[in-house]
Amino acid sequence: MCGIVGYIGPREAYPIIIEGLKRLEYRGYDSAGIALFDGKDLKVCKTKGKVVDLENKLLNEISNSGSIGIGHTRWATHGVPNDVNSHPHHSNSGNLVIIHNGIIENYDSLKKELSSRGYTFKSDTDTEVLVNLIEDVKSKENVKLGKAVQIALNQVIGAYAIAVFDKTQPNEIIIARLGSPLAIGVGKDEFFIASDASPFIEYTKNAIYLEDEEMAIIRLNKDIKVRKIKDDSLVDPYVQELQINLEQIEKGGFKHFMLKEIYEQPKAINDTYRGRLLREDAIIKMSGVEDNMKKFLAADRIIIVACGTSWHAGLVAEYIFEDLARIPVEVEYASEFRYRNPIITEKDVIIAISQSGETADTLAAIKLAKSKGAFVFGVCNVVGSSIARETDAGAYTHAGPEIGVASTKAFTTQITVLTLIALRLARAKGTISSSDFRHHLLELEMIPKKVEKALESDAHIKKIADIYKDSRNCLYLGRGYNFPVALEGALKLKEISYIHAEGYPAAEMKHGPIALIDENMPIVVIATKKGHYEKVVSNIQEIKARKGKIIGIVTEGDVDVRELADHVIEVPETLEALSPLLTTIPLQLLSYHIAVSLGKNVDQPRNLAKSVTVE
Ligand code: G6P
Repeated sequence: MCGIVGYIGPREAYPIIIEGLKRLEYRGYDSAGIALFDGKDLKVCKTKGKVVDLENKLLNEISNSGSIGIGHTRWATHGVPNDVNSHPHHSNSGNLVIIHNGIIENYDSLKKELSSRGYTFKSDTDTEVLVNLIEDVKSKENVKLGKAVQIALNQVIGAYAIAVFDKTQPNEIIIARLGSPLAIGVGKDEFFIASDASPFIEYTKNAIYLEDEEMAIIRLNKDIKVRKIKDDSLVDPYVQELQINLEQIEKGGFKHFMLKEIYEQPKAINDTYRGRLLREDAIIKMSGVEDNMKKFLAADRIIIVACGTSWHAGLVAEYIFEDLARIPVEVEYASEFRYRNPIITEKDVIIAISQSGETADTLAAIKLAKSKGAFVFGVCNVVGSSIARETDAGAYTHAGPEIGVASTKAFTTQITVLTLIALRLARAKGTISSSDFRHHLLELEMIPKKVEKALESDAHIKKIADIYKDSRNCLYLGRGYNFPVALEGALKLKEISYIHAEGYPAAEMKHGPIALIDENMPIVVIATKKGHYEKVVSNIQEIKARKGKIIGIVTEGDVDVRELADHVIEVPETLEALSPLLTTIPLQLLSYHIAVSLGKNVDQPRNLAKSVTVE
C-alpha cells in the first residue's frame, strides 16, 4: 500500500506531486508528505491526515518549489499514523530522504546494528532504518547514492518500492522495487515516478514498469539506467504505451468514485465480454483459455485464490464452474493457502483473481502454486500488474480504473470473465448442450441492460437506507449462487459505513444468527425466483416470526416475498447462474447510501486501502 510520486525535469515539481498523490490516495491515506529541492535547499513537509491536509499545511509556503521532488501517501504498517512516522524520512546527516511502500522485515536487527554505531531514530518506522542503512553504506564504502542503495537493499528482507534523493547529488532520484509496484513515466527531458501511472497520464503515455529486484537511476537530462539489484547487470527497459486516459480516473459529475463505478457497470460488463462473446457464431473466444485448453480439460480440479471482494467473486465462480463445466473447485483465501502447506499437483489449475493485480498474499500464493508445477491463470483488472505478469496466462476484466476503495465494478466484471471461462470449458467438455449454451450467451448479452434497469431502483434504495442507517448490525442472507453475494453485500456495508454486518447462507441462519434477530435487526434476503425460491421464502417466514425487518431482493413482479417483507427491491429476471450480476447492484447502492447518510468518507473508508501490497 502507500502511494509514491516523484518528478525530475523542467516543470515545477510541487503541483505534479500533490495532484499525483491525490490520485494515489486510494492506496492509503493515513498521512502524507513531500520533499522538494529548489536548487539550493531541501524542503520536507509531512503531516498526519490526507493529501489535502498536507496541501493546507504548505499553503503560502511554496513559492518556488523547484523541479525535483518526491511525495508519499501512507497506509501505516510500522508506527501509528502521526507526523513523525509520515514519509519522507531523513537520514541522520539530513542529506538523504526516502519514501517507501512495503515492509522491511529485518528492520529491527538492522536498527540495533545501526544504533550500536551511533545512529539515532526519530520515528518508529522501518523506513527510517532503511534510509540510515543507505547512508551508512554510502559513507563506509565511499560510493555514490545508486550503489549505496543497491548494497543496502541486498541486506534487506521484505518488500519495497522506494524513491531516494540525496541533496549532495541533487540531479538524480534512485528508485527500486521488490513486491510493490513502481512505474516511470518517460517524457521529453523529464521523468515521473509513481506507484501506478495515474499521476502522469496527462504528461506522457510512455511508461516503464519496474520489475521485482530492479532499480533505476533517474538523472536530469540523461537516459534512465535500470539495473538488477542482485548482480548489478544492466536491463533494457520495455517502454509501454499507456491505454488509460484522464477521464477514466475523474469523477465525471458523480459525488463519489464508488457511485460512478456502480453506474459504470453496464458498460464495464459489456467491455468485459466484447470481442469474447460472439453470440451469432455461438462461440466464446478467449486466447488465454484457448491456448491452454488442454491444461484446463486435464485439470483434476480448479483452485481459486484471492482476497476480499475478489474472493467473493471466486465463490460465485465455484458455483458456475461446478454447475456448468462439472470441474471440482476449491476457493481459498490466498493468505491461508500460502501458509498451510497445501497439496498442489501439476494437474491442478489455479485461478488467481485480483482487481489490482498487486495483492501481496495472492501474488505469494501464485508463486507457491507455480513452484509446485501447477498452471496458473490470472483474472486481473490492472493491465501489466504484477499478478498479470506472474501468471502463466490470463484474462483481463477490462473494467477500467476502479478508484473507490470499496470494490464494485471489479466484482461484477470478474464474475463476467469467470462465467465466460466456465461456459467455454463447459462447451469443450460437452457438459452443456448447444441450446443451453446459446441461451446463456443471449442472457449474458442482456445483462448490461438489466443492470441499467436494476440501477433505476436507486432512489427507492436511498429511502430504505435512510430508515436503516442507524442500525448497529445487519444480516445478509442468500442461497446457492447468491450466498457469495450476501457475503459481498455485508462486506460493502462494513467497509464504508462501519456497521457490523454478516453474510450467511440463508439456511445456516438457524444455526446461530437467528439468535440475533429482533425488531431492530434489518435482514437483507436475496430471494430471486430461480434460486431455491421456496426455501428462501421459508427462511423469510422464520425471520418474520421473530419480528426482524426484512429487505427482500426479488425478481421483478414477485408477489410472495412482497407480502412478507418490510421492503422489496426488484431486479430483472435472468438465469440463475447470472443472477449475482444483478442482485449485487442493490446491495452496492444500499451500502453506498447508508454510508453517505452517515457522513462517512465513502471513497476512502478508515483503515482500508485499495491495494494491499503487504501481507
Ligand atoms: C483490499 C480492497 C478490496 C479488495 C481486496 C483484494 O482489501 O480494499 O476491495 O477486494 O483488497 O484486492 P485485489 O486487488 O487483489 O482484488
